[in-house]
Amino acid sequence: MKVLVIGSGGREHAIVDTLAQNKTIEKMYAAPGNGGMREVAELVPVPADDVGVLLDFARRERIDLTFVGPEVPLSLGVVDVFRKAGLKIVGPTAGQARLESSKSFAKQFFRTHGIPTADFRECATASDAYRLLEDARFPVVLKADGLAAGKGVTIAATRDEARDAVKRVMEDKSLGEAGSKLLVEEFLDGEEASFHVFADGTDFQPMVVSQDHKRRFDGDAGPNTGGMGATSTNDILSPELRKRVIDTIIRPTLDGAKTFGGILYAGLMLTAAGPKIIEYNVRFGDPETQVILPRLKTDLLDILWDMAEHRLASRSLEWQDAPAAAVTLVVKEYPGKVPAGKRISGLADAKQVPGVRIYHAGTRFEDGHYYTNGGRVLNVTATGTTLSQALDRAYAAAAMIEFEGKDYRKDIGQKGLARWK
Ligand code: AMP
Ligand code: GLY
Repeated sequence: MKVLVIGSGGREHAIVDTLAQNKTIEKMYAAPGNGGMREVAELVPVPADDVGVLLDFARRERIDLTFVGPEVPLSLGVVDVFRKAGLKIVGPTAGQARLESSKSFAKQFFRTHGIPTADFRECATASDAYRLLEDARFPVVLKADGLAAGKGVTIAATRDEARDAVKRVMEDKSLGEAGSKLLVEEFLDGEEASFHVFADGTDFQPMVVSQDHKRRFDGDAGPNTGGMGATSTNDILSPELRKRVIDTIIRPTLDGAKTFGGILYAGLMLTAAGPKIIEYNVRFGDPETQVILPRLKTDLLDILWDMAEHRLASRSLEWQDAPAAAVTLVVKEYPGKVPAGKRISGLADAKQVPGVRIYHAGTRFEDGHYYTNGGRVLNVTATGTTLSQALDRAYAAAAMIEFEGKDYRKDIGQKGLARWK
């Protein structure tokens, strides 16, 4: 069995590492992969969004199964192209990926299917948006329609802030085409949770719930990032709320998006009026994957194969009760422009901390050493019998790793710990 994983982040390292536990895989490839993934997969120097070259590679190497990590190749139709060529690939088609790649499509979809979400209006021009802001309630949420790598959302506390955001996105085109339409959305108050499911086109299986830490600095201050850390524990949602999410959000979505196959990740806001959907992603979250997969007891390749063969219903998934936590080590300038090529030390010692796994993100391996190669550098993940133990382990390992400009949030999991008090 030969497997190809497309992508290069901490998410993809966690996927490759989990797949590697299956001994029927003779060869695993990662395109383009990162420094850490080379320990378990052969790196293929093809960018994740170069669909044509990926197809040539998969044909030439006779890849048995391909799994796609990031959203961009999905929205470019990598699944459509591979399937047309008769290759097995797990993920949604480009049409289905619009649930993530167009926020306006997603919001219309929620409305059509009666899925609880924030009220919204769509604006095609800046003057429409300015007019709408005249009698909006604040804070208000402004969202660029297209994919903007986490930079498309502004939560404006005042009318002036909101007007600035409209000018930036619609008049100055700071996000390019992604900002050609703008959604003006009701602000939802509550705790956020990431709800992932495996879907095979007919049936689905939920995963354990997780929480991201999107803001750059402690206390949820500073700009939004790709994610600065995550936790996964069984108590994020009560069994009743979990059922409510499945019945009011997940099932109506999959009934509406007929034949959706792949990973569906619902970004939820747990409001006083019940769980509401903020947005869908059509792929695994990063860094959520780094805390979900260490808790999965069922073989991941078996699940992916079932998804490809549309027989997920026959499998029951097993998860560890043990909580997991991940701390993302970044270069201090992140999410701004970061320098690359700083030598990383301490990885071997950090890996020895019980329960710890290290998933690389922006790293490169050269002449026997790892170097930084991006803003998010490493994810230090740990499991433990309690969340507090998982966090202590992750932070102990994080402290052993060094590179110039290393920075990380010191408050990952604090909301989760507060639930125990
Ligand atoms: P997104 O890029 O859609 O994931 O949004 C980024 C973040 O903005 C979310 O994780 C939330 O923290 C916040 N956000 C988005 N929409 C809303 C909303 N309607 N109310 C409150 N916060 C929101
Ligand atoms: N952790 C947020 C995301 O993957 O979109």
